[in-house]
Amino acid sequence: MARELSARLERLLDVTTRVSLVSSVLAVVLAAGCGGVSDPDLVLSPLGQQGREVAADAGCTACHGDRGQGSVGPAWAGLSGATVELDDGTTVVADDAYLHRSITDPAAEKVTGYTIAMPDNALSADEIDAVIAYIQELE
Ligand code: HEC
Repeated sequence: MARELSARLERLLDVTTRVSLVSSVLAVVLAAGCGGVSDPDLVLSPLGQQGREVAADAGCTACHGDRGQGSVGPAWAGLSGATVELDDGTTVVADDAYLHRSITDPAAEKVTGYTIAMPDNALSADEIDAVIAYIQELE
């Protein structure tokens, strides 16, 4: 009787170990499948997520932060729709067109207070649209 019970227990333990092994392997596979910049706290549309990856690949995050929090460049979080002060003393609303210009022609309008110049980039039109979607989703 006792032996039968312990045999049953052993089988049960065996199943439990296998189940937990499978779920940890699954967790690793899922995490890897989401790419290098997965971030469970940040809810993005598929286009926004694509934009986040473009920004990481193109090196934008080095200056604008991996969550758009800014560093040597201005923050992207909260930028969309905000009023931006330029170094010529004028202001501009950060709408779609402004974000687009900032990326395609970084020297055209310079945000006041930054001594570093934003370098030119070679993003395609689709990549720019994705990055803009990402910036707009960073509230
Ligand atoms: C070397 C640092 C650096 C890199 C790399 C960089 N930027 Fe910038 N970016 C800046 C600085 C500094 C400014 C503010 C001065 C200006 O307007 O040029 C800026 C401004 C901007 C703005 C306007 C921000 C605002 O507050 O109005 C956008 C949008 C932007 N960058 C997007 C990008 C994208 C997209 C990339 C990647 C393709 C990128 N940047 C790469 C430094 C950088």
